Amino acid sequence: MKRREDKRLAKKGVSLLLTAALMMGLTGCGKEGNNQPEEGTATITPTIEAGKEVTPEPTAEPTPTTAPTPTEVEKEVRTDFYISAIDEELPSLYEAYTDYFSIGVALTASELFNELKVDVIKDHFNSMTCGNEMKPDYLLDREGCVVAGTEECPVLNFKSCDGMLQFCMDNGIKMRGHTLVWHSQTPDWFFMEGYSNKKDAVMVSKEVMLARMENYIRQVMEYVNTNYPGVIYAWDVVNEAILPGDGDADGMRVQDSMWYQCVGPEFVEKAFEYARKYAEPDQKLFYNDFNTYEVAKRQAIIKLVEKIQAQGNIDGIGMQSHIGISSPTLDDFETTIRKFAETGLEIQLTELDVNLDSSSEADLMKEGTRYKRIFFLLKNLKDTGAANVTNVTIWGLTDDKSWLNKDGLRYPLLFTQLLETKPAFWGILQDEGIPLY
Ligand code: G3I
Repeated sequence: MKRREDKRLAKKGVSLLLTAALMMGLTGCGKEGNNQPEEGTATITPTIEAGKEVTPEPTAEPTPTTAPTPTEVEKEVRTDFYISAIDEELPSLYEAYTDYFSIGVALTASELFNELKVDVIKDHFNSMTCGNEMKPDYLLDREGCVVAGTEECPVLNFKSCDGMLQFCMDNGIKMRGHTLVWHSQTPDWFFMEGYSNKKDAVMVSKEVMLARMENYIRQVMEYVNTNYPGVIYAWDVVNEAILPGDGDADGMRVQDSMWYQCVGPEFVEKAFEYARKYAEPDQKLFYNDFNTYEVAKRQAIIKLVEKIQAQGNIDGIGMQSHIGISSPTLDDFETTIRKFAETGLEIQLTELDVNLDSSSEADLMKEGTRYKRIFFLLKNLKDTGAANVTNVTIWGLTDDKSWLNKDGLRYPLLFTQLLETKPAFWGILQDEGIPLY
């Protein structure tokens, strides 16, 4: 891949930068490798029954038909998982999954000014998502709306995401457009007459809000597709509209959704109608949500997407996949993917991260196993035709930048702050040094 060749030519200079970073006392969770698999943990090569989660059975030691010849060397199994992604040539994540699905990462605009991170991003990811910069509260320009907008047509400003779109176009990386219609990170004034942010502001009518929605979606798609053609391959058209028990018979989110309160439940279908109207033909339209493995939520999502599917306006379901070490069970995770796949829609894991309670070696290794088992499952579902998984996006690059770090670090991602790999990285690569269970 040309990207990686370019990088090799520039590699040596950065190690000096990294040494300087280390001397600054930055902490990572790099540990010298005595990550030996526990005593007696045989390396199992599980047999795959079509579509079933593998519960590998310890295999009896095979009776060697012939004594190993003295020249046979015990296969080296990795024991050190904390390796600099800057200094060392590592297997590429996206190249390892070329035959399965693209591998993405959520980023902030500032991370693209860090040359060390840019090298790692170009090596391992062929898809990118703006963590915030393409959300309504970043694109809507209130001053512009008040001065130059009309009641039906808001004014947008793309300075927050221009650089990220340009980076993708310059480096042949595709982008997931996140997100067009969401109850969160969308300013209240966007729903008010005159775009007023005063306490006595009056909500606009359903008709006006639908016109604003259509003009918002139209402007986002026209701007991005005109200035960065071919970059966006998927849109999160509507995000997190389902919340069973919130007061809607079909399990839709009501209480904190100004879209629902202003337009009614049909705002979702209208969003997809407008998205299909203005999207490029090859851009895929997704419904995206979290905790999709909860039965009531899963059922409500399926009911919603099937309605939109009948109108020809949706291509996929995004399972955000913000998970823990043991919740949800892999069974529930797999069941959800299979049931979503029964709709015939694409499936994407759009925001994968694994929330840890500690950075102990044991927890970090369990995290590696978690990532390994999920990707093992996804490959199996794809190989058996059970689900058309087309992308997995990790919701962040380095542990220190995760959205989860609200009350302390949660270590959910693939790289440490020093851009060292973690067991999670090697788990995705199905490395034998990471236990599968
Ligand atoms: O940019 C401002 C900064 O100017 C200000 O000083 C600072 C003060 O707190 O806030 C900054 O904005 C923060 C923004 O991230 C950018 O860092 C917001 O407070 C903070 O709430 C926002 O969090 C984002 C969160 O969505 C908001 O819901 C996370 O970065 C982002 O990763 C997260 O992503 C969401 C997905 O879009 C949808 N699925 C769930 C996922 C996690 O919540």
